[in-house]
Amino acid sequence: QRMVLEEQLRQAQKMEAIGQLAGGVAHDFNNLLMVISSYTELLLRNSRENEDLRAIRGAAQRGADLTQKLLAFARRKVIEPRVLDLGEIVEDMRMLLKPVLETGHGLVMDIAPARGQVRADRGGIEQIVMNLAVNARDAMPTGGTIKIIVRDIEVGDDYARANVGVMPGPHVALVVADTGVGMDAATVARVFEPFFTTKDVGKGTGLGLSTVLGIVQQNGAHIHIDSSPGLGTTIAIYFPRCAPSRDAVVVPSGRATILVIEDDDVLRSAVRRVLEEHGYQVLVASDASSALAICESGTGIELVVSDIMLERTNGMELAKALRAQRPDLRVLWMSGQAGDLRANEVSTAFLRKPFTAEVLVDRVRSLL
Ligand SMILES: Nc1ncnc2c1ncn2[C@@H]1O[C@H](COP(=O)(O)OP(=O)(O)OP(=O)(O)O)[C@@H](O)[C@H]1O
Ligand SMILES: [Mg+2]
Repeated sequence: QRMVLEEQLRQAQKMEAIGQLAGGVAHDFNNLLMVISSYTELLLRNSRENEDLRAIRGAAQRGADLTQKLLAFARRKVIEPRVLDLGEIVEDMRMLLKPVLETGHGLVMDIAPARGQVRADRGGIEQIVMNLAVNARDAMPTGGTIKIIVRDIEVGDDYARANVGVMPGPHVALVVADTGVGMDAATVARVFEPFFTTKDVGKGTGLGLSTVLGIVQQNGAHIHIDSSPGLGTTIAIYFPRCAPSRDAVVVPSGRATILVIEDDDVLRSAVRRVLEEHGYQVLVASDASSALAICESGTGIELVVSDIMLERTNGMELAKALRAQRPDLRVLWMSGQAGDLRANEVSTAFLRKPFTAEVLVDRVRSLL
């Protein structure tokens, strides 16, 4: 048993090292990609039909998708853990999973009627289910059934002793099982490595299970693979169950109402999406007068995230007008140039463009 544990530990340390490398590279690349896509968007504003620019934008988008997966593997994505019902989330994914299946593929959901709650990030769970379902489908080229199970389990002392990173006690299991080709032990040992794939070039990047592992760890869960060639694969993820009475009243951190003022359509919707995904209520305005109108209608805005240089108005003037209505209003400025902000006005929070979603959410959180 000690040998097994040592091997697991070695494996975990290897993943940790790869994760640090991948995360560092992905983080820097993400920033570079953000610069590339911001400037491409700017150029596209002036020549919308330029095919070359569209190609650059498309490539930057694919690059960003890739770095997002690496960041998930490296556990560098901002997560919003909440008390959740895993069964409900899986149930809600039925429609999303449909397009994944091909003819000859069945989907069976076996969700225990009485089940405990877990504390996890909803988006992460959806990504886990999606990645596992896609893998299960690919493992059954001639058709078969994907089974998704959610139910309470008790992790026993023996299991916890034999597996690094899991404690004995009540858990909720999320299981995805297929009747596909299965894997031999050597393959199972490598599946979490980023870019490990047995699929043809262009078919798989080998990041699916890497991201799953990152999400599992970030949410304090444990993953177990049971597979053998020809007999199919069962992947189980154990989330610690939480006591419903106490944790159910935990207030999610995002919920505040934020007014986003930005004249660039693309950036405005990007900022809006990021904030909404983190649970905030978001109102948007593209210019000073609509911002003032929204504020006046008194919708309980707690924070304004605004561009400093708006098309017709200086953001600072706008801020003065807004503060005249609401003296306690907090403002987070976005700007491409540090020079936009005069020294005596740096009393307020400031985000230099381009910024990443992570930085944005960090600053917003610190201001609320
Ligand atoms: N359910 C499964 N049955 C059999 N083999 C699997 C299963 N899930 C994963 N594998 C094996 O593990 C490898 C890695 O899986 P992973 O999801 O990380 O990458 P991928 O599916 O190859 O590519 P990507 O998910 O990035 O599109 C796969 O190429 C496959 O060999
Ligand atoms: Mg995959």
